[in-house]
Amino acid sequence: MGNEMRAWVNGRIVEPGEARISLLSSTLHYGFGAFEGIRCYSTGRGPAIFRLRDHVKRLTDSWHAMGMECPYSREEIAGAAKSVVRANGLDSCYIRPIIFLTGIAFDPHACETNVAVACWKWDNFFGDKPEDSGIRAVVSSIARPHVNSTLSKAKITGVYYNSFLAKGLAKKQGFDDAIMLDPNGLVGEGTAENVFIARNGAVSTPKRRGILEGITRDSVMRIAKDLGYCVSEDDITRDELYIADEVFLTGTAAEIECVAEIDCRRIGTGKIGPVAAAIRSKFRRITAGKEPGYADWLEYVNDEAEAGPASGREGSGHTGGGPA
Ligand SMILES: Cc1ncc(COP(=O)(O)O)c(C=O)c1O
Repeated sequence: MGNEMRAWVNGRIVEPGEARISLLSSTLHYGFGAFEGIRCYSTGRGPAIFRLRDHVKRLTDSWHAMGMECPYSREEIAGAAKSVVRANGLDSCYIRPIIFLTGIAFDPHACETNVAVACWKWDNFFGDKPEDSGIRAVVSSIARPHVNSTLSKAKITGVYYNSFLAKGLAKKQGFDDAIMLDPNGLVGEGTAENVFIARNGAVSTPKRRGILEGITRDSVMRIAKDLGYCVSEDDITRDELYIADEVFLTGTAAEIECVAEIDCRRIGTGKIGPVAAAIRSKFRRITAGKEPGYADWLEYVNDEAEAGPASGREGSGHTGGGPA
């Protein structure tokens, strides 16, 4: 992870290291930006981006929820995502679109809105470990923010300090990740994942109310239903995690990861259970392009010539405002 690659910035592909922004960016100082995380998978037909249109829609919806206008269309951003994969000659990768402000002002409308799409190789979110062994999680003392304090349906840069706090603390305590409660004390989500439990053959996940509506969550719910499991959105308490047969996390970066232990209690058998294993196996076949029934979830990068804007539009033209 981390090797800088060619990126798409405001309409053009730039060389590694060329994408630089000024220190005077209201996104850097105030966390006012929106981003996405998308995965591109290797398939028999070349690289394919998983649920690209849904991710791009969530990105522009996030910016809209922030009361802002995006200077590029969804079509242009989707084209940009494909073009960075092609420009870097990658077969699989993680793609990071971001909408950010340049110029410093204590008013987002007085800044300039920019869109960039970066990518990098990011294989295993939880690093190298035996793949069925699962992770060790802790229920964090850091709660998710109230839905009226932040926008839970939007992926906003600044809000991620909350996840970073919880993840950093969990790692320091020797755990792999944290499960975060909502302001009512019910299970909310992981630091960058949604949470699922399986109990007596049924699958449930926290209600959408205060969580990010994960695209992997949605995919897993559909896969689980298609596999014949009863799937529900519920209020889930911390002790329901402890006594579940299986707990697993879902997210673009984490994909489908089983939780072997929570708060030093073994969950189920302490390794991946049959429900998560069946869903994960289907998910992997889908992302490898081997499941025709889910073909509309994949967008093949090399199937068309570059679809993004040809060149040169720089930013949105909003400038001005004094320093805060
Ligand atoms: C807080 C949070 N919850 C859930 C998710 C999972 O969402 P997705 O499956 O769309 O990646 C993410 C990842 O983006 C996240 O940051």
